[in-house]
Amino acid sequence: MSHHYPFELQPLPYPYDALEPHIDMETLHFHHDKHLKTYVDNLNKALEPYGEYHSRSLEELLTHYKDLPDELQPAVKNNGGGVYNHQLYFSLLTPEKTEPSGRLAEELDRTFGGFEEFQQQFSEMAMKVFGSGYTWLVKDERDRLAIVSYPNQDTPLPHGLKPVLLIDVWEHAYYLKNQNRRADYIRNWFQVLNWDQAAKNYELGLE
Ligand SMILES: [Fe+2]
Repeated sequence: MSHHYPFELQPLPYPYDALEPHIDMETLHFHHDKHLKTYVDNLNKALEPYGEYHSRSLEELLTHYKDLPDELQPAVKNNGGGVYNHQLYFSLLTPEKTEPSGRLAEELDRTFGGFEEFQQQFSEMAMKVFGSGYTWLVKDERDRLAIVSYPNQDTPLPHGLKPVLLIDVWEHAYYLKNQNRRADYIRNWFQVLNWDQAAKNYELGLE
């Protein structure tokens, strides 16, 4: 993705069938080629008349979206969030077998009492999201971990939190394969979660 306007649809970092059978090819085509593309197009359309914001990164726009003109705020929050969240989500999937490592693994142990406990708590939070939204593992300004959920395409950025990993629990992320069985989707998603990328996200900005 370019770092500022006009934002571009970034290709998936793996083939569409790479995550089978955990996440199917048809879902990935719709999710990336249709849903994410629509967010990119709508974000660009909304920002087009506002030249003064064309040099801002997506992260800056989302962190400080409340400083934007009133009429621009919903478009940036919803479509900008849609671009940011999906790019992160796709970057955190892999066909490779990965596991928590380094500082992130230590911090998961310290905060949740181990990986299995983390997985259980994270899955419970993701099950509880009512309607559409995401569950996140975030770090605060002191690098402590927490599990949070936000509705729609909201991001943790305006709250001063940095994403480590996230799961999309909008029905479009799983309905074609799992129908209404969100628990199956969450279990499958853990099989293709890219822990190496999550560790990099956690280590970003660490002392
Ligand atoms: Fe999605």
